[in-house]
Order: sequence, then C-alpha cells, then structure tokens
Amino acid sequence: MRLILLGPPGAGKGTQAQRLVERYSIVQLSTGDMLRAAVAAETAIGLRAKDIMASGGLVPDEVVVGIISDRLELDDAENGFILDGFPRTVPQAEALDELLSSKGIELDAVVELKVNEGALLERVENRVAEMRARGEEPRADDNAEALAKRLASYRAQTEPLVQYYSERRKLLTVDGMMTIEEVTKEIERLLNAVTAGDSKPARRS
Ligand code: AP5
Repeated sequence: MRLILLGPPGAGKGTQAQRLVERYSIVQLSTGDMLRAAVAAETAIGLRAKDIMASGGLVPDEVVVGIISDRLELDDAENGFILDGFPRTVPQAEALDELLSSKGIELDAVVELKVNEGALLERVENRVAEMRARGEEPRADDNAEALAKRLASYRAQTEPLVQYYSERRKLLTVDGMMTIEEVTKEIERLLNAVTAGDSKPARRS
C-alpha cells in the first residue's frame, strides 16, 4: 500500500497515519516529524527550517524532496508507505511522480481529510493543552498566528493537489469531522474498494 494523506493543519493526518501503519504493516513518512527532529538535532536542514516552521511557512521544495528521496531509498519503505505532510506543493507532487516512476512504483491512493476550519483551531488548542498536561513543550507552530499562516499556505499551495490527484484518479475524500475511529474505518472501507478493484477514485469536476 502506497498512500498520501492530504489535509489542512490539524486535520488528523498524523493520527490516521499511525493507525494505518499498523493495519497495513507499512511505514509512516512524516516530513513534519522529520523536520522537527532535524530542528531538535540542530542539523544544517534543521537550522534552515527552524524559523520557517515556527512562523507557519513552508520549507523550500528542494529540502523536503531531498528528505523524501533519501527516505524512500531505505529498505523499510519497500513494503509500502504513508506520506503524511508530503507533497504540499505541485512541484513536490511532480518530483514525487518522477521519483516513484524511476522506481517503477505507483501510488495506490491519496486520502484527503476534510475538516471545518473552526474545528482545526480547536484541535490544535487541545493538542497544546494535552502536551502541557504531560509536561511537554507545545509545538512552536501551534498558536493562532502560525496556524493562520499554515492554513493560508494550505489553501494557496497544497489545496491545488486535490485537483492534481483527482485528475490522476487517485483522490479519495473522507469526512474528517467524524471520530478518529470512524475516520479510520471510512479510510479502510475506501481503500478496500480500491484494492479489490471495485472502484477507481472518481475524477472531481
Ligand atoms: P506537519 O507536522 O505536517 O503539520 P501540519 O500539516 O500543520 O499538520 P499537524 O501535524 O498539525 O496536523 P495533522 O493533520 O497531522 O493532525 P494530527 O493528527 O496531529 O508540518 C509542520 C511544518 O513543517 C509545516 O508547517 C512546514 O513548515 C513544514 N513542512 C512539513 N512538511 C512540509 C513539506 N512537504 N513542504 C514544506 N514544508 C513542510 O491531529 C491534530 C490534533 O487533533 C491531535 O491532538 C489529535 O489528537 C486531534 N484529532 C485528530 N483527529 C481527530 C478527530 N477526528 N476528532 C477530534 N480530534 C482529532
């Protein structure tokens, strides 16, 4: 299974990816997690990404494409993967297409999680409260100002991927307003239909 999870900040991409890796025995490739690890380790990439991420902007395409390209070379990605937070721009999607076709592999589906904007802020605020309750430092970009910029980046640069993958008949849209469990069940239901060949994702007009 080779999947992309697409959705605005706080939509539940990371939450669903963690559940799906167990279900399908595949790896989760989260560019956000990889970049946060690079920031924490103060690597060259981390130093470059730190302020961009804290303000809610997007890290340059060549940086994230390089990270994913290196990561797909590792053996554990051979059985399949879930890309969580990548691609986020059309150039990233085009680079991914090239990478996969050079390896002779194809994506199975792109799952778009649709969530109301009001719920996104609430979820991010809940995450901050949960992290503080556990004695952890909240994410530098989990505040109203950075969230507004992350949402603006999503609308301007990532939302065009909905059309991109719809045209390639890879897009599955899921209501991300349901409970975590219900969202997982719906994703699994749609993926089962795709893998059984019952249905091909429709092209959105
Ligand atoms: P990234 O880490 O990818 O952040 P994001 O896209 O803003 O998404 P989040 O992690 O906030 O949310 P999520 O959709 O994963 O939701 P989650 O499951 O955590 O990226 C961070 C930054 O890194 C970017 O802004 C950018 O700077 C940089 N970056 C990363 N990739 C890049 C790329 N490809 N190109 C350029 N720059 C890149 O859930 C959120 C909360 O909601 C949790 O508390 C969860 O428990 C809760 N929740 C989840 N589902 C539900 C539900 N159904 N009901 C109720 N609560 C729910």
